[in-house]
Amino acid sequence: MTPTPLLSVRDLLVRYGQVEALHGVSLNVYPGEIVALIGSNGAGKSTTLRAISGMITAASGSVTFAGQDITNLRSDQIVRQRLAHVPEGRQIFGDQSVFDNLLLGGISLERRAARTQADQEIRRFPVLFERRRQRAGTLSGGEQQMLAISRGLMSRPRMLLMDEPSMGLAPLLVRQVAQTILDLNAQGMTLLLVEQLASMALAVADRAYVIQNGVVRLEGSSAAVSRNPEVVRLYLGGAAGASV
Ligand SMILES: Nc1ncnc2c1ncn2[C@@H]1O[C@H](COP(=O)(O)OP(=O)(O)OP(=O)(O)O)[C@@H](O)[C@H]1O
Ligand SMILES: [Mg+2]
Repeated sequence: MTPTPLLSVRDLLVRYGQVEALHGVSLNVYPGEIVALIGSNGAGKSTTLRAISGMITAASGSVTFAGQDITNLRSDQIVRQRLAHVPEGRQIFGDQSVFDNLLLGGISLERRAARTQADQEIRRFPVLFERRRQRAGTLSGGEQQMLAISRGLMSRPRMLLMDEPSMGLAPLLVRQVAQTILDLNAQGMTLLLVEQLASMALAVADRAYVIQNGVVRLEGSSAAVSRNPEVVRLYLGGAAGASV
């Protein structure tokens, strides 16, 4: 029996004004998988995630999550279905405390449940617990990424969409983020990971899709995608793929 995807995206078409950014993107993520969506600058990775999570509207196509059609629902409705999005650039509120940033991730929960959840979640990363009362703007880039992930987890998702968690981080911190992704997955989380840093994404993911100019060009196991000569040439820079 073929397993049922947890997330299924079919023929997604997205326009920004006159410009068509996605020309019919399809992908599946099965329960318990880490799936990478890799591609270069402007390929349509963030647009795909934004359309899945209801931050932008799809002109056509469909998104199914846990058996429900969630196409073009509002983002707060999608969070309540327990699909969370950790956005590109972290989107931390620098003037608010680390703890208050976490609480903001719990808006889909009742106030008391959000506080209980934040009290638990703040302990996931010891460095965030130590700094829970500091302004989030004082955190390093790596710590802010941890906070963005924790904030996404506040809504108790079954699945996380992560957009470029390695962006702007030094190699040691990229490895920490990669380990966090593997730890979450080991605890049962399903993940769709968007990355320009293909080496990192392919190192942690089970399967991968390659997107170019708003179209999925290639899909397969991470091992197979990593060996594809075009992928090596365009995204792994020859031997650089072995760096993570
Ligand atoms: N708000 C917007 N308005 C108009 N065009 C946009 C907007 N956001 C993205 N685009 C365009 O849509 C296309 C896909 O962009 P998208 O942000 O999805 O790419 P990406 O793969 O996430 O790139 P990056 O790796 O740089 O984050 C690009 O041509 C981009 O210029
Ligand atoms: Mg992007």
